Amino acid sequence: MNFILPILISYLLGSISFSTIAAKVLKGIDIRNHGSGNAGATNALRVIGVGPGIAVLLLDVFKGILAVWIGEWFTPNELLVPVLCGLFVIAGHNWPVFFGFKGGKGIATTIGVAATIAFLPTLYAGLISIVFLIITRYVSLFSLLFSLLLPISVFIFSDAVEIFYLSIAIWLFAWFRHRSNIIRIIQGQERKVGQKG
Ligand code: G3P
Repeated sequence: MNFILPILISYLLGSISFSTIAAKVLKGIDIRNHGSGNAGATNALRVIGVGPGIAVLLLDVFKGILAVWIGEWFTPNELLVPVLCGLFVIAGHNWPVFFGFKGGKGIATTIGVAATIAFLPTLYAGLISIVFLIITRYVSLFSLLFSLLLPISVFIFSDAVEIFYLSIAIWLFAWFRHRSNIIRIIQGQERKVGQKG
């Protein structure tokens, strides 16, 4: 039973949509009706500016870190609960109970979760994906590639089967949430970093 509370806390933590809150407080708008319509750091950068965008990014990463820590605190020396906390904080970010289940795509929070639970595999997947981000300037391509490389990197560099299953779930979540980005990339209509609209 000691797994239900940390998982619930993680989901509620993930449901705190910092981009939605920041856009409401700073501009009086619902970010989900602007830019890409996504409640995430990239769209916050696009719609409300660089400073708030970076703040949202850091907070979204931090809630991922915090959820894993909460799991570890509830069940020290055990991986399953921190892994489930990681999964549920991302689920909360994507489908937030406080904001009509309409949230973000979970990548910043995924970075926080993955880096806390499997630092080196996350670093390797992240470094390769960042090169693609720099070359293409598509954040969504970074996100799609990072989430795809993560299970591969975990498979190669980690022995923990729980982390491998988490990384597979993360990949499925991320690609499911990026459906519209995939279509826009194929159609050549995806926005690049710094591009408005
Ligand atoms: O992590 C979100 C990013 O990959 C795409 O965001 O707003 O361009 O759909 P956005």
